[in-house]
Amino acid sequence: MNTTTKGPLVLITVGPTREAIDPVRYISNHSSGKMGYAIASAFLEQGCTVVLVSGPVGLALAHPNLSIIHVQSADEMFAASQPYFQSAQIVVFAAAVADYKPAEIFTYKMKKSASEFELKMVKNVDIACEFGQVKRNDQIAVGFALETNNEEQNAVHKLYKKNFDLIVLNSTQDSGATFGFDTNKITIINKDVVFQSFPLQSKQEAGRDITKAALRLATNHTPIAQHH
Ligand code: CTP
Repeated sequence: MNTTTKGPLVLITVGPTREAIDPVRYISNHSSGKMGYAIASAFLEQGCTVVLVSGPVGLALAHPNLSIIHVQSADEMFAASQPYFQSAQIVVFAAAVADYKPAEIFTYKMKKSASEFELKMVKNVDIACEFGQVKRNDQIAVGFALETNNEEQNAVHKLYKKNFDLIVLNSTQDSGATFGFDTNKITIINKDVVFQSFPLQSKQEAGRDITKAALRLATNHTPIAQHH
């Protein structure tokens, strides 16, 4: 981290996680990371200092006020994020964290033998919930909800469960939105259950709208602390 930079500190988790099965295999998802990287760019445009904790994605971003920490698994993402929980003014949970991981990682590549095989999975750490439990009133948490049904109800439930100040809802029912696309159709919901819906737009534009909403809340809470 460049310690000479100023501006509120924003921590962003982004991309998928990879949960290892053995040295050559893993379980993951289709997250491209485009939305999270667009949010990082938008915060940098606004003069913020950004720490991006990124799962494996095919994206690059460089800026003097940006640090990128590359991780693979949910456990690594949590370990890399945790040191910033106290100092971050805004935390955006844009990562598609795998909910479960294999109970054990096999030391050697698994050999094909039986016609069926079962993999025991255990729950991963919920990074957003962990932050939600230690979040101070002057900090803003922004979460995402990707829902296939009962979208609005599920998103509001998630907002309260994870102690978010804002939740960004994308529906998989919107064409041109979510995984892999360059566009997104988002609805931002706040704690008063006020819905702000945006048209289908580029992820860059969506990133700016999310950033604006988070910065507006952060400014209303307290004067934004300078990060030294
Ligand atoms: N999240 C997280 N750590 C996890 C799972 C989710 O930080 N282990 C964050 C995501 O980054 C997102 C939000 O929590 O901002 C909601 O993620 P989602 O996968 O929709 O929620 P889940 O709690 O996994 O709920 P479900 O899969 O039951 O819908």
